[in-house]
Amino acid sequence: MLSYRHGFHAGNHADVLKHVVLVQLLKQLTLKDKPLWVIDTHAGAGGYSLEAGYAARNAEFANGIGLLWARRDLPAPVREYLQQVRAANPDGVLRHYPGSPQIALQMLRPQDRLRCFELHSTDSKALQEHFRAAGRRVAVVAGDGFAGLKSVLPPPSRRGLVLIDPSYELKEHYRDVRTAMRDALQRFATGTYAVWYPQLPRREAEQLPQELQRLAPGDWLRSRCRSPPRPRKASACMAAACSCSIRPGTSRPAARGDARAGGGAGPGRAATFDLQFRQT
Ligand SMILES: C[S@@+](CC[C@H](N)C(=O)[O-])C[C@H]1O[C@@H](n2cnc3c(N)ncnc32)[C@H](O)[C@@H]1O
Repeated sequence: MLSYRHGFHAGNHADVLKHVVLVQLLKQLTLKDKPLWVIDTHAGAGGYSLEAGYAARNAEFANGIGLLWARRDLPAPVREYLQQVRAANPDGVLRHYPGSPQIALQMLRPQDRLRCFELHSTDSKALQEHFRAAGRRVAVVAGDGFAGLKSVLPPPSRRGLVLIDPSYELKEHYRDVRTAMRDALQRFATGTYAVWYPQLPRREAEQLPQELQRLAPGDWLRSRCRSPPRPRKASACMAAACSCSIRPGTSRPAARGDARAGGGAGPGRAATFDLQFRQT
Protein backbone atom coordinates (compact mmCIF):
# COMPACT_ATOMS: atom_id res chain seq x y z
CA MET A 1 0.00 0.00 0.00
CA LEU A 2 1.38 3.38 -0.95
CA SER A 3 1.78 5.85 1.88
CA TYR A 4 1.95 9.12 -0.03
CA ARG A 5 -0.81 11.57 0.91
CA HIS A 6 -0.89 14.73 -1.08
CA GLY A 7 -2.54 16.58 1.80
CA PHE A 8 0.87 16.96 3.46
CA HIS A 9 2.20 18.83 0.44
CA ALA A 10 -0.85 20.78 -0.69
CA GLY A 11 0.08 24.28 -1.80
CA ASN A 12 3.84 23.82 -1.45
CA HIS A 13 6.34 25.16 -4.01
CA ALA A 14 5.93 22.11 -6.22
CA ASP A 15 2.15 22.53 -6.32
CA VAL A 16 2.61 26.20 -7.16
CA LEU A 17 4.80 25.42 -10.13
CA LYS A 18 2.55 22.62 -11.36
CA HIS A 19 -0.60 24.66 -11.01
CA VAL A 20 0.84 27.81 -12.59
CA VAL A 21 1.68 25.68 -15.61
CA LEU A 22 -1.72 23.97 -15.51
CA VAL A 23 -3.54 27.30 -15.48
CA GLN A 24 -1.53 28.55 -18.46
CA LEU A 25 -2.20 25.37 -20.43
CA LEU A 26 -5.93 25.51 -19.68
CA LYS A 27 -6.05 29.18 -20.57
CA GLN A 28 -4.60 28.44 -24.00
CA LEU A 29 -6.55 25.26 -24.63
CA THR A 30 -9.92 26.81 -23.83
CA LEU A 31 -9.52 29.55 -26.42
CA LYS A 32 -11.06 27.33 -29.11
CA ASP A 33 -14.75 26.46 -28.81
CA LYS A 34 -14.21 22.78 -29.55
CA PRO A 35 -14.68 20.67 -26.40
CA LEU A 36 -11.56 19.95 -24.38
CA TRP A 37 -11.03 16.85 -22.27
CA VAL A 38 -8.76 17.11 -19.24
CA ILE A 39 -7.46 13.83 -17.90
CA ASP A 40 -5.83 13.90 -14.48
CA THR A 41 -4.18 10.51 -13.97
CA HIS A 42 -3.13 11.17 -10.36
CA ALA A 43 -5.77 13.55 -9.14
CA GLY A 44 -5.47 13.53 -5.35
CA ALA A 45 -8.38 14.55 -3.12
CA GLY A 46 -9.44 17.61 -5.11
CA GLY A 47 -9.14 20.18 -2.33
CA TYR A 48 -7.33 20.53 0.97
CA SER A 49 -7.89 22.43 4.18
CA LEU A 50 -4.82 24.43 5.14
CA GLU A 51 -6.15 25.02 8.64
CA ALA A 52 -6.47 21.44 9.79
CA GLY A 53 -5.42 17.93 8.91
CA TYR A 54 -2.32 16.91 6.99
CA ALA A 55 -1.60 20.26 5.32
CA ALA A 56 -1.54 22.07 8.65
CA ARG A 57 0.93 19.63 10.22
CA ASN A 58 4.09 20.58 8.34
CA ALA A 59 2.64 23.73 6.77
CA GLU A 60 4.53 23.17 3.52
CA PHE A 61 2.12 25.62 1.93
CA ALA A 62 3.83 28.43 3.86
CA ASN A 63 6.74 28.01 1.47
CA GLY A 64 4.53 27.96 -1.59
CA ILE A 65 1.15 29.63 -1.89
CA GLY A 66 1.78 31.27 1.50
CA LEU A 67 4.57 33.37 -0.01
CA LEU A 68 2.39 34.59 -2.85
CA TRP A 69 -1.07 34.95 -1.39
CA ALA A 70 -0.87 38.59 -0.33
CA ARG A 71 1.36 39.80 -3.15
CA ARG A 72 0.07 42.29 -5.65
CA ASP A 73 3.20 42.60 -7.79
CA LEU A 74 3.31 39.20 -9.43
CA PRO A 75 3.81 38.45 -13.12
CA ALA A 76 0.71 37.58 -15.12
CA PRO A 77 1.00 33.75 -15.09
CA VAL A 78 1.36 33.72 -11.31
CA ARG A 79 -1.48 36.24 -10.93
CA GLU A 80 -3.73 34.09 -13.06
CA TYR A 81 -2.91 31.06 -10.93
CA LEU A 82 -3.64 33.08 -7.80
CA GLN A 83 -7.07 33.95 -9.19
CA GLN A 84 -7.86 30.24 -9.23
CA VAL A 85 -6.71 29.78 -5.64
CA ARG A 86 -8.74 32.85 -4.65
CA ALA A 87 -11.83 31.28 -6.23
CA ALA A 88 -11.48 28.49 -3.66
CA ASN A 89 -11.22 31.07 -0.87
CA PRO A 90 -14.10 33.46 -1.51
CA ASP A 91 -13.83 35.19 1.87
CA GLY A 92 -10.31 36.37 1.04
CA VAL A 93 -8.55 34.31 3.71
CA LEU A 94 -6.27 31.50 2.61
CA ARG A 95 -7.97 28.47 4.16
CA HIS A 96 -8.25 26.01 1.29
CA TYR A 97 -5.99 24.87 -1.46
CA PRO A 98 -7.55 23.62 -4.70
CA GLY A 99 -5.95 20.52 -6.19
CA SER A 100 -5.34 20.07 -9.90
CA PRO A 101 -8.81 18.64 -10.70
CA GLN A 102 -10.53 21.49 -8.88
CA ILE A 103 -8.44 24.10 -10.70
CA ALA A 104 -9.23 22.36 -13.97
CA LEU A 105 -12.95 22.30 -13.29
CA GLN A 106 -12.92 25.98 -12.39
CA MET A 107 -11.45 26.77 -15.80
CA LEU A 108 -13.43 24.37 -17.93
CA ARG A 109 -16.48 25.38 -19.93
CA PRO A 110 -19.83 23.58 -20.18
CA GLN A 111 -18.74 21.67 -23.29
CA ASP A 112 -15.52 20.39 -21.67
CA ARG A 113 -14.98 17.20 -19.66
CA LEU A 114 -12.78 16.22 -16.74
CA ARG A 115 -11.72 12.63 -16.14
CA CYS A 116 -9.83 11.85 -12.93
CA PHE A 117 -8.07 8.79 -11.58
CA GLU A 118 -7.02 8.35 -7.96
CA LEU A 119 -5.75 5.09 -6.53
CA HIS A 120 -5.72 5.78 -2.79
CA SER A 121 -9.08 4.69 -1.42
CA THR A 122 -9.40 7.57 1.06
CA ASP A 123 -8.45 10.24 -1.46
CA SER A 124 -10.57 8.75 -4.23
CA LYS A 125 -13.59 8.80 -1.90
CA ALA A 126 -12.76 12.38 -0.93
CA LEU A 127 -12.49 13.29 -4.60
CA GLN A 128 -15.80 11.65 -5.46
CA GLU A 129 -17.39 13.55 -2.61
CA HIS A 130 -15.67 16.76 -3.69
CA PHE A 131 -17.25 16.49 -7.14
CA ARG A 132 -20.61 15.08 -5.99
CA ALA A 133 -22.49 18.07 -7.37
CA ALA A 134 -20.37 18.53 -10.49
CA GLY A 135 -22.63 16.51 -12.77
CA ARG A 136 -21.73 14.57 -15.87
CA ARG A 137 -18.89 16.83 -16.90
CA VAL A 138 -16.71 15.14 -14.28
CA ALA A 139 -15.96 11.45 -13.79
CA VAL A 140 -13.77 10.07 -11.02
CA VAL A 141 -12.32 6.59 -11.29
CA ALA A 142 -11.04 5.02 -8.07
CA GLY A 143 -8.18 3.21 -9.70
CA ASP A 144 -4.82 3.19 -11.39
CA GLY A 145 -4.34 6.22 -13.61
CA PHE A 146 -1.35 4.74 -15.45
CA ALA A 147 -3.47 1.82 -16.61
CA GLY A 148 -6.69 3.80 -16.95
CA LEU A 149 -5.29 6.49 -19.21
CA LYS A 150 -5.65 4.26 -22.28
CA SER A 151 -9.37 3.90 -21.67
CA VAL A 152 -10.02 7.62 -22.20
CA LEU A 153 -7.78 8.21 -25.20
CA PRO A 154 -8.32 9.60 -27.68
CA PRO A 155 -11.04 11.88 -26.33
CA PRO A 156 -14.09 12.12 -28.63
CA SER A 157 -13.32 15.75 -29.50
CA ARG A 158 -9.65 14.90 -30.23
CA ARG A 159 -8.66 17.80 -27.99
CA GLY A 160 -7.17 16.87 -24.66
CA LEU A 161 -4.80 17.78 -21.87
CA VAL A 162 -3.32 14.92 -19.86
CA LEU A 163 -1.76 15.73 -16.51
CA ILE A 164 0.49 12.99 -15.16
CA ASP A 165 1.45 13.80 -11.59
CA PRO A 166 2.56 10.67 -9.73
CA SER A 167 4.12 10.59 -6.29
CA TYR A 168 7.28 8.75 -7.46
CA GLU A 169 7.36 6.82 -4.20
CA LEU A 170 8.69 3.84 -6.08
CA LYS A 171 11.36 3.95 -8.74
CA GLU A 172 9.00 1.89 -10.92
CA HIS A 173 6.85 4.99 -11.21
CA TYR A 174 9.39 6.51 -13.62
CA ARG A 175 9.02 3.46 -15.81
CA ASP A 176 5.25 3.64 -15.45
CA VAL A 177 5.31 7.26 -16.67
CA ARG A 178 7.32 6.23 -19.71
CA THR A 179 5.04 3.33 -20.53
CA ALA A 180 1.89 5.39 -20.03
CA MET A 181 3.30 8.17 -22.22
CA ARG A 182 4.30 5.75 -24.96
CA ASP A 183 0.83 4.15 -25.03
CA ALA A 184 -0.89 7.51 -24.80
CA LEU A 185 1.07 8.98 -27.69
CA GLN A 186 0.21 5.98 -29.85
CA ARG A 187 -3.49 6.54 -29.22
CA PHE A 188 -3.50 10.30 -29.12
CA ALA A 189 -0.42 11.83 -30.70
CA THR A 190 -1.91 15.30 -30.93
CA GLY A 191 -2.70 15.61 -27.23
CA THR A 192 -1.09 17.98 -24.80
CA TYR A 193 0.74 16.21 -22.01
CA ALA A 194 2.06 17.65 -18.77
CA VAL A 195 4.31 15.45 -16.67
CA TRP A 196 5.49 16.45 -13.22
CA TYR A 197 8.73 14.99 -11.94
CA PRO A 198 11.11 15.77 -9.11
CA GLN A 199 14.66 16.92 -9.65
CA LEU A 200 16.46 14.37 -7.56
CA PRO A 201 19.99 13.02 -7.73
CA ARG A 202 18.78 9.60 -8.78
CA ARG A 203 19.25 8.00 -12.14
CA GLU A 204 15.58 7.51 -12.92
CA ALA A 205 14.75 11.15 -12.21
CA GLU A 206 17.72 12.47 -14.18
CA GLN A 207 16.90 10.33 -17.19
CA LEU A 208 13.19 10.99 -17.36
CA PRO A 209 13.38 14.30 -19.30
CA GLN A 210 15.54 12.71 -22.02
CA GLU A 211 13.27 9.70 -22.16
CA LEU A 212 10.23 11.90 -22.60
CA GLN A 213 12.07 13.81 -25.28
CA ARG A 214 12.79 10.56 -27.12
CA LEU A 215 9.15 9.53 -26.95
CA ALA A 216 7.90 12.86 -28.29
CA PRO A 217 10.78 14.67 -29.97
CA GLY A 218 10.55 18.45 -29.97
CA ASP A 219 7.90 20.75 -28.65
CA TRP A 220 8.68 20.31 -24.96
CA LEU A 221 8.20 23.24 -22.70
CA ARG A 222 9.99 22.86 -19.41
CA SER A 223 9.58 24.85 -16.28
CA ARG A 224 11.34 24.35 -13.00
CA CYS A 225 11.37 25.77 -9.59
CA ARG A 226 13.61 25.46 -6.62
CA SER A 227 12.84 26.07 -3.04
CA PRO A 228 16.07 27.33 -1.42
CA PRO A 229 14.96 27.13 2.21
CA ARG A 230 14.61 23.37 2.05
CA PRO A 231 17.74 22.36 0.18
CA ARG A 232 17.41 18.68 0.97
CA LYS A 233 13.93 18.52 -0.45
CA ALA A 234 13.54 17.78 -4.09
CA SER A 235 12.91 20.78 -6.20
CA ALA A 236 10.28 20.35 -8.77
CA CYS A 237 10.35 20.17 -12.47
CA MET A 238 7.45 19.98 -14.75
CA ALA A 239 7.67 19.36 -18.43
CA ALA A 240 4.78 19.88 -20.72
CA ALA A 241 5.15 17.96 -23.93
CA CYS A 242 2.98 19.55 -26.47
CA SER A 243 2.59 17.55 -29.59
CA CYS A 244 -0.57 19.43 -30.50
CA SER A 245 -0.41 22.80 -32.12
CA ILE A 246 0.14 25.25 -29.34
CA ARG A 247 -0.40 28.91 -29.82
CA PRO A 248 2.91 30.66 -30.48
CA GLY A 249 2.52 32.73 -27.34
CA THR A 250 2.98 29.60 -25.26
CA SER A 251 5.77 27.93 -27.15
CA ARG A 252 8.18 30.79 -27.51
CA PRO A 253 9.84 32.39 -24.48
CA ALA A 254 6.66 33.91 -23.16
CA ALA A 255 6.67 34.27 -19.47
CA ARG A 256 9.26 34.90 -16.91
CA GLY A 257 7.92 35.24 -13.46
CA ASP A 258 10.09 35.94 -10.50
CA ALA A 259 8.10 35.80 -7.34
CA ARG A 260 10.29 36.44 -4.38
CA ALA A 261 8.86 36.98 -0.98
CA GLY A 262 10.03 36.58 2.56
CA GLY A 263 7.49 38.66 4.39
CA GLY A 264 4.54 36.49 5.35
CA ALA A 265 6.58 33.39 5.87
CA GLY A 266 9.22 34.66 8.28
CA PRO A 267 12.87 35.61 7.85
CA GLY A 268 14.96 33.60 5.46
CA ARG A 269 12.00 31.76 4.00
CA ALA A 270 12.15 33.29 0.58
CA ALA A 271 11.38 31.11 -2.40
CA THR A 272 12.00 31.90 -6.01
CA PHE A 273 9.70 30.64 -8.69
CA ASP A 274 11.40 31.16 -11.94
CA LEU A 275 9.00 30.33 -14.70
CA GLN A 276 10.43 30.18 -18.13
CA PHE A 277 8.42 28.71 -20.93
CA ARG A 278 11.00 27.92 -23.48
CA GLN A 279 11.12 25.51 -26.33
CA THR A 280 13.89 22.98 -25.68
C1 LIG B 1 1.17 14.27 -6.34
S1 LIG B 1 -0.37 13.64 -5.88
C2 LIG B 1 -1.51 14.36 -6.97
C3 LIG B 1 -1.78 15.83 -6.75
C4 LIG B 1 -2.76 16.42 -7.71
N1 LIG B 1 -2.45 16.10 -9.10
C5 LIG B 1 -2.76 17.93 -7.57
O1 LIG B 1 -1.97 18.61 -8.26
O2 LIG B 1 -3.55 18.44 -6.78
C6 LIG B 1 -0.30 12.00 -6.49
C7 LIG B 1 -1.59 11.22 -6.22
O3 LIG B 1 -1.54 10.02 -6.96
C8 LIG B 1 -2.16 9.00 -6.21
N2 LIG B 1 -1.69 7.73 -6.81
C9 LIG B 1 -0.59 7.00 -6.55
N3 LIG B 1 -0.47 6.01 -7.44
C10 LIG B 1 -1.50 6.13 -8.31
C11 LIG B 1 -1.90 5.42 -9.48
N4 LIG B 1 -1.20 4.39 -9.95
N5 LIG B 1 -3.00 5.86 -10.13
C12 LIG B 1 -3.72 6.91 -9.69
N6 LIG B 1 -3.40 7.61 -8.57
C13 LIG B 1 -2.29 7.23 -7.91
C14 LIG B 1 -1.73 9.27 -4.81
O4 LIG B 1 -2.62 8.68 -3.88
C15 LIG B 1 -1.78 10.80 -4.78
O5 LIG B 1 -3.04 11.25 -4.34
